[in-house]
Amino acid sequence: MTDTIEHDLLIVGSGLAGLRAAIQAAKTSSQIKIAVISKLQVMRSHSVSAEGGTAAVLFPEEGDSIESHVYDTVKGSDFLADQDVVERLVHEMPAEIYQLEHWGMPWSRREDGRIGQRNFGGYSFPRASYAQDKVGFYEMQTLYDTCQKFDNIEFYNEWFTTSIIHDGQKFCGVTAIELASGTFYIIKGKALIIATGGAGRIYSYSTYGLSSTPDGLDMAYRAGLALKDMEFVQFHPTGILPSGILITEGARGEGGYLINKDGERFMKRYAPGKMELSPRDVVSRAMMTEIKEDRGFKHETGVDCLKLDLRHLGEDVIARKLPAIREISMKFSGIDPSNEPLDVRPVCHYMMGGIHTDINGATEIQGIWAAGEAACNGVHGANRLGANSTSECLVWGKVTGELAAKYVLENTPPPFPIHLVAAEEKRIFDGIFHGRGDVNPYEIKQELTEMMNEKAYVFRNEKDLVSGLKKLRELREKTWKHVDDQAKEYNTNFTNVIELDSMFRVAEVVLLGAIRRKETRGAHARTDYPERDDKNFLHHTLAYYDTKEPALKEHPVTITKYKPVERKY
Ligand code: FUM
Repeated sequence: MTDTIEHDLLIVGSGLAGLRAAIQAAKTSSQIKIAVISKLQVMRSHSVSAEGGTAAVLFPEEGDSIESHVYDTVKGSDFLADQDVVERLVHEMPAEIYQLEHWGMPWSRREDGRIGQRNFGGYSFPRASYAQDKVGFYEMQTLYDTCQKFDNIEFYNEWFTTSIIHDGQKFCGVTAIELASGTFYIIKGKALIIATGGAGRIYSYSTYGLSSTPDGLDMAYRAGLALKDMEFVQFHPTGILPSGILITEGARGEGGYLINKDGERFMKRYAPGKMELSPRDVVSRAMMTEIKEDRGFKHETGVDCLKLDLRHLGEDVIARKLPAIREISMKFSGIDPSNEPLDVRPVCHYMMGGIHTDINGATEIQGIWAAGEAACNGVHGANRLGANSTSECLVWGKVTGELAAKYVLENTPPPFPIHLVAAEEKRIFDGIFHGRGDVNPYEIKQELTEMMNEKAYVFRNEKDLVSGLKKLRELREKTWKHVDDQAKEYNTNFTNVIELDSMFRVAEVVLLGAIRRKETRGAHARTDYPERDDKNFLHHTLAYYDTKEPALKEHPVTITKYKPVERKY
């Protein structure tokens, strides 16, 4: 008999969206039992690494407006955002900023004592609320502290969720491994919120924590939920060499320059209106064009790059407003940005795509919601603006937490389909834990993630994408699915191989979506189709799991006020 635990609401993932959902659910009803299940300790969730800010309109009396935030986001998305969803984000965000403040968030302050906001790419007004350059750390600490006030939130830290169990229509529970003991469990529940974050570790050069693998997306996908818009992967312009750790856009928001080997602020040739504060897709493409046209630098590792120059900001501004990136630069590159420019290049940072949801975060299975980066509710379209991600986590954490709690109160679960658990146990233990083979899974992971970097990076084309897909399928055929370490307790070798298994399926969806989308839109830049093609591609992409090959479909975009126009900065 498999060990079984029962809660009302299961939240998988303990980042910003998961914690915000837990708080809202607990506020909605003290009667429901909430479990937050995470493969990590809470404060190791990747949200902790968010640096630069959280977008919201706080100062309409100084010229900002809801309409401007909406339009900037829609234009930034290259008109693929669902405009009703954007409206919701923007309307709900100011209250979230103040709510966090009331829970103890130490926002940085202006001289007049009000909450500090800085410039970010693609915005018409400085509206990224910040806390130095550690906004994610402080937001997470604030939410985690707040969770402690509720007796009905229980944390399952370092539990690896393996699959979703449902009866074809309604959610019934999940299966999970308690990492400390290696014990396999059924966790029954009436509702589920998937808040497992992004999956950017399918790229070798990435700002994401090593834990940001696609196991959360993959369990939804295997359960029959669609993944949406996965071809849109965001490359942040400033990953520091050699590691790829994020140098916040806030550094450019505070006035930093990007320069090429001629000492030129090259953005003036690509986006004279916004320069370094253009949206990320525009800046990353400009950087790769500079490199291609031989105006880049060579890092000592041989990698091409450009320079981010912060020297003119002065030591005081850097120490007060950008202390984390100073520490990162010094520790990981040996450079003090007050004295020397930093070597940077575009790095995988965010996935616009995720689990297909509606405006409320509801998925196609009753009782399952998704929130935060794991979800794709259509708010970011083809390119997210910086500082809109932490905002999205807060808004849809709140929305899904409340809806899921109400659902729990109003619904009884269907009979639990216990036969599915045996199949899952077999998949995990016979298929992976006891699997044997002669190929090192870590080498396979390296090859897979390097292939993604080479073939599906800032600029893409048919030939590269197709050869990338072929390579992925060849790697998948090798006998890599084996675990050397047969210990039960804290077997990271085992979980790493489960993660790699999920990487193959999700990377395949990214490549297939990118091959199918024969246009350039937002972060998806095809050199063989350099124009946006609204006639044929103004739609979302849905991918459904199939044992042979993912089934791709189109899904309409909601356009309310803003008809697509040419996007210039
Ligand atoms: O550059 C940054 O601080 C990143 C922010 C974001 O992705 O929203």
